[in-house]
Amino acid sequence: MRFDGRTVVVTGGAGGLGRAVAAGFVEAGATVAVADIAGIQAGPGPHLRGYPVDVASPAAVAELMRAVHADLGGPHVLVTLAGGSLGTPRDLADIAPGDLDLVLDVNLKGTFYCCQAAAPLMAAAGGGAMVTCSSIGARQPSPVTGVPYAAAKAAVGGLTRRLARELGPLGIRVNAVAPGLFLTPRLAERFAAMPDAERREVLDAIPLGRMPELREVVDPVLFLASEAASFITGITLDVNGGRYLPA
Ligand SMILES: NC(=O)c1ccc[n+]([C@@H]2O[C@H](COP(=O)([O-])OP(=O)(O)OC[C@H]3O[C@@H](n4cnc5c(N)ncnc54)[C@H](O)[C@@H]3O)[C@@H](O)[C@H]2O)c1
Repeated sequence: MRFDGRTVVVTGGAGGLGRAVAAGFVEAGATVAVADIAGIQAGPGPHLRGYPVDVASPAAVAELMRAVHADLGGPHVLVTLAGGSLGTPRDLADIAPGDLDLVLDVNLKGTFYCCQAAAPLMAAAGGGAMVTCSSIGARQPSPVTGVPYAAAKAAVGGLTRRLARELGPLGIRVNAVAPGLFLTPRLAERFAAMPDAERREVLDAIPLGRMPELREVVDPVLFLASEAASFITGITLDVNGGRYLPA
């Protein structure tokens, strides 16, 4: 799973999973464009470069891809992690139209705009791979996120399959990763503050009986983006320790 000479765009790259994924690609030899709406801290070396962007803006995303292509070449890999429930309420009665718009605009439309803008550049570079981000919250009702998040992340699965069909002939594979709960620094604090019984309930639901390390989502993302997955496209890879067990 080496990416020497490859340019990788990671949206949401300043976030908990995004930073770990960006670092994983750098370790594997890639140059990474970290694209995020939040402040991007200087990377550990010349192989990380920050690009401020709002993925919900198609014009900003088109400019991002143009800039990455001009600065770094490619892109050869796109990982779309910008998203989350973004501070919106969980319960139906509390959800305002603006909350629904925000969650869909970033998680779903943002993913669409990034894939659409990257596709011609990737094709011109001889092909590539996209890894989108669904969630266990799209697979089964989540105790922490609400209807907009479930809908947006389920839609990312459909988007991924349809894109795989359309972009396969151009040499571009498109797969999704669907993480269970990963304790990023932000979520680790919330988990630690939970009563013991609730923490135990979360762990009991995971057949592997423990919380994952961040590297355990980084490696599956690198796998889907790599030549090791060269005949895999259109799948959603569940990474949740067995918490969701489909028939
Ligand atoms: N951590 C988990 O347990 C978990 C589980 C399942 C799915 N996910 C998904 O993984 C992805 C990353 O999650 P995380 O835990 O790292 O969250 P996070 O909040 O730490 O990171 C999300 C990043 O997206 C950025 N972002 C938000 N809106 C944006 C916009 N409009 N344009 C560009 N960037 C924007 C944020 O600034 C942030 O840096 C999300 O899509 C989330 O839904 C996370």
